[in-house]
Amino acid sequence: MLRPTLLLLLASLALLIIPCQGCSTDEDCSLNGICSQTKQACICDRGWRADDCSELDLYPATRWSGYNYTNATGPDFYKEGAGNSSWGGHIVQDPLDKKLFHLITSQMAHGCGLAGWRPFSTIIRAESRTGPTGPYKFAQTLFGTFHHNPTTIYSPADGRYLLYCIGRDIETPSTCTSQKFNNTISVSSSTDLKRWEPLEAQLENVTNPAPWPLWSRQDPTRAMLLAVEKNNIYTAQNFSGPYGLVVEPHNTDRSEDPFLWQDKRGNWHFLVHYLIDIDLGLKGPRVGAHAYAKDWQGPWTFNNKTLSYNTTVEFTDGTSTVYYRRERPKLYFSDDGDMAPIYLINGVQEFNQSGSYTLIQPIGPGAREYEARLGFV
Ligand SMILES: *[C@@H]1O[C@H](CO)[C@@H](O)[C@H](O)[C@H]1NC(C)=O
Ligand SMILES: *[C@@H]1O[C@H](CO)[C@@H](O)[C@H](O)[C@H]1NC(C)=O
Ligand SMILES: *[C@@H]1O[C@H](CO)[C@@H](O)[C@H](O)[C@H]1NC(C)=O
Ligand SMILES: *[C@@H]1O[C@H](CO)[C@@H](O)[C@H](O)[C@H]1NC(C)=O
Ligand SMILES: *[C@@H]1O[C@H](CO)[C@@H](O)[C@H](O)[C@H]1NC(C)=O
Ligand SMILES: *[C@@H]1O[C@H](CO)[C@@H](O)[C@H](O)[C@H]1NC(C)=O
Ligand SMILES: *[C@@H]1O[C@H](CO)[C@@H](O)[C@H](O)[C@H]1NC(C)=O
Ligand SMILES: *[C@@H]1O[C@H](CO)[C@@H](O)[C@H](O)[C@H]1NC(C)=O
Ligand SMILES: *[C@@H]1O[C@H](CO)[C@@H](O)[C@H](O)[C@H]1NC(C)=O
Repeated sequence: MLRPTLLLLLASLALLIIPCQGCSTDEDCSLNGICSQTKQACICDRGWRADDCSELDLYPATRWSGYNYTNATGPDFYKEGAGNSSWGGHIVQDPLDKKLFHLITSQMAHGCGLAGWRPFSTIIRAESRTGPTGPYKFAQTLFGTFHHNPTTIYSPADGRYLLYCIGRDIETPSTCTSQKFNNTISVSSSTDLKRWEPLEAQLENVTNPAPWPLWSRQDPTRAMLLAVEKNNIYTAQNFSGPYGLVVEPHNTDRSEDPFLWQDKRGNWHFLVHYLIDIDLGLKGPRVGAHAYAKDWQGPWTFNNKTLSYNTTVEFTDGTSTVYYRRERPKLYFSDDGDMAPIYLINGVQEFNQSGSYTLIQPIGPGAREYEARLGFV
């Protein structure tokens, strides 16, 4: 009598399992691919993998690439050990010189490290002539203390780069201490990435700006979206504001540092810093999550089941590092009309280190193809 019962159990388990693995709509493929009705399986877009296309197709990173000056020293440093710590940058290709790449990131002044981010954070520009993964070298301070959390994007309707950040001008104290004060999101614009207009304050007591222009070839509008912490989305008729709150998605789980984008099919996505391990008193390993929607006004689906990435990074030298913190995700996309993510940029901190840096990890074969087309490999 035992045997048929067992068979029955196995058969019903199989029935339960099979529909879970397949897909019936593109939503089952995280909107990062399409659900093939013949195969009942997801066909993932370039840059994504896994049964539900929720995982970034990360390739090994190169040591000493990105922007890592945690070993820097300076005459104005208040302490040793954290170097020129950076946090949360984005890559921008130079508008005129296609082989020049800029990294606009937060950098803590006076060697104060990530712990002293408020008020020591500045916004700097670094340059790479060796490709989009760097290594980048410090070029210029764009905004002094205290300015933080920059996101830089190109606005086709304005023909200008827009830099959204938080902060205000503050005289720094003479030791590495942290301070608490409110966050204000401001915006500046530039045509050459070097000279920026004065910042204009837009939203008080809100942080983690993540802009995306609503512009398209069919609708060359100047309207902007501005996502912020908790994945709330504001909109404005142009980047100068005023910004009005439109979307307050429920079920954003424990997330911050949203990065917002629209894909080639017009779907909307957030990559976020997922804070789920906070419940365990930890900052990882489950740090990269994804949310998606057919319309930016929602409904949004927050994927709290599978991760887009975690704190483990493989390197081309065969080694790997498990990071203490890996936050502030940003994606750089292919310029071939496919909008394939080809680099993931994060602020990272290693275990037992006070310094932090900007890690750039290639995604899929598209990264190398892009570098080859530019003549770097
Ligand atoms: C970053 O720099 C530190 C030295 O300050 C070094 O220990 C670490 O391996 C570097 N990380 C990478 C990914 O190059
Ligand atoms: C920091 O590390 C880089 C890469 O190994 C090295 O080129 C540089 O000389 C180091 N700087 C200091 C101040 O040790
Ligand atoms: C560290 O940052 C300062 C600007 O605050 C810059 O002058 C210096 O060149 C940087 N050092 C390195 C090694 O990047
Ligand atoms: C918050 O920031 C704004 C603008 O940056 C400033 O005017 C205001 O005084 C600040 N509020 C507090 C309570 O610090
Ligand atoms: C921002 O926060 C400060 C300090 O808590 C408060 O005084 C101010 O009214 C807030 N501003 C807005 C627009 O909510
Ligand atoms: C931006 O839009 C606002 C609201 O419609 C308008 O008042 C303002 O003049 C516009 N700014 C620019 C620079 O066009
Ligand atoms: C994931 O989201 C669902 C739907 O909101 C919720 O019921 C569930 O508790 C969440 N799971 C976790 C682990 O947060
Ligand atoms: C991190 O992700 C990689 C790739 O999916 C996986 O092989 C590894 O087991 C994960 N590590 C942790 C700690 O979850
Ligand atoms: C960090 O330091 C603690 C105590 O000094 C040690 O127990 C732990 O193994 C270290 N972690 C890593 C990843 O090196």
